[in-house]
Order: sequence, then C-alpha cells, then structure tokens
Amino acid sequence: MANIAKRASSALEESQPVWEYADAPESTEIVKLEDRYGLFIGGELVEPKSGRWFETINPATEETLAEVAEAGPEDVDLAVRAARTASTKWRKLPGSERAKYLYRIARQIQERAREFAVLETMDGGKPIKESRDVDVPLAAAHFFYYAGWADKLEYAFPNRGPRPIGVAGQVIPWNFPLLMAAWKLAPALATGNTVVLKPAETTPLTALLLSQVIREAELPPGVVNIVTGAGPTGAALVEHDDIDKIAFTGSTEVGKVIRRTIAGTGKRLTLELGGKAANIAFEDAPLDQAVEGIINGIFFNQGHVCCAGSRLLVQEPVFEPLLEKLKDRLQTLRVGNPLDKNTDVGAINSRAQLEKIEELVASGVDEGGEMYQPECVLPERGFWFRPTLFTKVSQSHRIAREEIFGPVLSILTFRTPAEAVEKANNTPYGLSAGIWTEKGSRILWMAERMKAGVVWANTFNRFDPTSPFGGYKESGFGREGGLQGLEPYLDLDPNGSS
Ligand code: NAI
Ligand code: MG
Repeated sequence: MANIAKRASSALEESQPVWEYADAPESTEIVKLEDRYGLFIGGELVEPKSGRWFETINPATEETLAEVAEAGPEDVDLAVRAARTASTKWRKLPGSERAKYLYRIARQIQERAREFAVLETMDGGKPIKESRDVDVPLAAAHFFYYAGWADKLEYAFPNRGPRPIGVAGQVIPWNFPLLMAAWKLAPALATGNTVVLKPAETTPLTALLLSQVIREAELPPGVVNIVTGAGPTGAALVEHDDIDKIAFTGSTEVGKVIRRTIAGTGKRLTLELGGKAANIAFEDAPLDQAVEGIINGIFFNQGHVCCAGSRLLVQEPVFEPLLEKLKDRLQTLRVGNPLDKNTDVGAINSRAQLEKIEELVASGVDEGGEMYQPECVLPERGFWFRPTLFTKVSQSHRIAREEIFGPVLSILTFRTPAEAVEKANNTPYGLSAGIWTEKGSRILWMAERMKAGVVWANTFNRFDPTSPFGGYKESGFGREGGLQGLEPYLDLDPNGSS
C-alpha cells in the first residue's frame, strides 16, 4: 500500500502532504465458527452418510475456517426425500402463510447483517464494503420482494392457475454465495416449491448460517435442504430422479453438461451462465462518470461477476483521455485485506481461479496485448491479482472472447455506433451491456440492438429484486428477479385458458 501512496504523491506537488490510510479492519468476533458443519436435511444439521468432509479456507490468508460435509449420492437422496415429503403440506399452504416465513427470513438476515457480511468476506475473499453494502442487503431485499408475491400469484398470472412445480434442485456459484442462495430460494419458496440447494465448495458457510436463520424462522423441516460438496454433489442432485426442476448458476461448461444430462427427463431447467459484457463509451460520454462505471464494472468483486463489463469499447476520439483517466483511477484502487473497510479489490476466490486468470492474462501478453497494472504491493499469503488493463486487444484475442472472471479489462476501440453494435454482440455470450453517452436517443437505439439480457445506461452493475436478470445464447436462459422470476417455479395453464 505504501507504494501506491508514494506513486500517487510523486505526481502531486512536492509541498503537498501524503495521506496514508490507517488500517480499518472489521472485527471477526461476531462470527462464531464451528469446527465442522453437517448437511442441512429435514430441518437438522446431520452427519454425512458419505463419511467425507472437506475444508473451506479463507482465500485472503489460506487459513482453514471449518470442515464441511461432502454429500454423496445417498445424502443427496435423503435431502430430496425430505423435500418431497415437505412438499405435500407446503404447496397447499395459503400464499399469505408462506409469505410470513419469507418475511421472517428477510428480517433475520437484516438483523444478522454484520455477521453474514463478515462471514461472506472471510469465506470468499470479497471486500467487506461489498458484502456489507451489496450482497447482504440485496439478499434480504430478495426475500422481502418475493414474500410480497406469495399471495398474489393469481394476479401475477391471471387465469393461468399457477401451481408449484414440486421439488427444485438448485446449484449456485462462489461469487455471490448468500445472494445467489437468496435469488434461488426466495422465488421457489414463494411459489410453494421445496428445495435442495447446493452451495459452491469454496464458499459454503453463509448458506449454512442461513440454515440457522431458516430454522429460527420455523420454516417447516424439509422445505429447504442444503447439501454441501463439489461438482459430484451437484451432479448427483441434477441426476436425481425425483427432482422436478433444476436451477443452475455457474460456468457455461457445466451448464452444458447439465442440459445434456436432463434432456428428455421432463425436468424443468433454468441456466444463468457466463458473460463477456461490452461496456461501450461514446465520444459524448461524461468521462469522469464513465470511468467510475467502467472501474466498478470490472473490478467490483475482483471481476468475479458473470455480468462484469470485461470488454471496454471506446469510441476513437476519446480513447486517449479515457485511458489516461482509467490508469490514474487504477492507481488509487486499494488491493488487499478484504476485511479492511477501505479495500476496493479483495482476494481471488481460490487458487484454481487465480491460475485461470494468470493463464488467460499470459495469453493476452503472448497474443500481442499491451498490459498495464498499478504497482500495488500484494499480501504475501493468499490469492491476489493486480487490477489489470489491456490495450492493443483485437477481437480474436482470447482475452477479448473468453470469460476471465477476474480483475482484467480488455480495451478495444470503435468508430461508428454500428461498429459498436457489431463488436459488442460478437460474442457467444449475451448477459449484459453498458452504454455511456449523453444522448437519450442513442441509449434507446443501442439498447434495442444489444443481444444482452440486461442493458445499463450511464451506470453499471445495478441490481434490484424487481428487475429480471438473465441471458441470451451461451449466457443461459430463464430470468431471475421480478415477476418473470416466478415463472420458472410454476406450472401454468396455457395463456388465455382458465
Ligand atoms: P462451476 O460451474 O464448476 O461451479 C458452479 C457450481 O456448479 C458449483 O456449486 C459447483 O460445485 C457446481 N458444479 C460443478 N460441476 C458440476 C456438475 N457437473 N453438475 C452439477 N453441478 C456442478 O464453476 P467453477 O469451476 O467454479 O469456475 C470456472 C469458471 O466458470 C470461472 O472461471 C468462471 O469463468 C465461470 N463461472 C461463472 C459463474 C457465473 O456466475 N456466471 C459463476 C462461477 C463460475
Ligand atoms: Mg472458502
């Protein structure tokens, strides 16, 4: 950190004092870790029949936080049975009754917000200011929002006789562990389904803390079951005969495997997969505002964001000034201890993810990209990657095509709006896009042409439970959030019939 301060100061007048940030670590005292966590099945934490356990670590320190049960096929089967048994009563409960449980869960998340935020940061490496200000409040908001729908399904889908599907198997990733649990659980429960949820193997702890909240909310046992483990546990859930619906968020690669696996089984499916979003800056964009949006777009959550603005498309006349501003802003990003309240960029979630980022960045250099990184000092232990910009990127480079899922921005240029559209859509993905311009008409013109589920204008990475989120093409299908987020969990009569 000292280096950042020195570099920044050298650019200033000699006479100006250098202001160092004092450390501002959030205390971890509020988190009470168990040595071991069992599986949450039928309302209890139980030992795994598999007899196997795995460790989850803090990626910022590489210290082990706890041992977590690894669910085998027999455990997954028990969880699905518990969900099936609970379904009989839960699906018949009036929506207003189901809503009460969701409101309770939402309020308890708010009540224990600091505990959730600290634990999320410890287990996954994201900056505390993000887990505190984004992940946890949005998770609570999601439960509140869907609680509101639980008794209004007839209004949401008039004359279509909305009925719960049954048992949902839900597999979630490690980039927003609690928030993705909320995105999956809230609409499923509001619509009267029961659930078996599988958190990601590097970040199981906030889902397990949520199991405590669920118990305290007195949700009937078996309505939510949580099975921890890695890919094979997820696969066992996907393959289970008595699951009615699979919801998956994660890599496109695994999404394809899941789709093949369940083809022909009659199981319903929604997939929320990768992205390679274009953030497009026109020459009339308010540049300083755009810089903040571009930085947030790619460095928020270390770039572990499916809708990250990982390709910056800049209109040629403003390329030089925008690049200068971006480089300056990069110098001020504070990389390091995620529990420090001043930290902007935390730890990379796992060694495997770090290696993936390093490999792709090396390919960017090999293929002729020009790399820029600020000279920040990284902690000795843990997994870290400097915020990185690439210029001289061509569309054929791997760093312009593949999802890096790290703090790495590839910058390309364009001349005309039509070219911006071509380049932005030239990707197998289609999850999000950003547009920076002063002209309202251009925003609408661009938004119409973006093959992306979400288009932000003069902002980026804004999320709200009322707004549907999801992709096109290899980014998946189905929507989460909003009224649209209820539909994947309901059997509906064909439009118009009664
Ligand atoms: P992943 O897709 O393997 O993991 C996501 C979840 O799927 C985890 O809970 C994992 O245990 C589970 N899973 C893995 N294999 C499975 C299978 N065969 N059947 C059912 N569930 C399975 O993602 P991974 O390996 O952690 O990350 C690799 C890359 O995927 C990242 O570098 C990133 O590019 C992308 N990714 C995208 C995410 C997104 O939100 N769009 C989230 C996580 C990863
Ligand atoms: Mg962990």
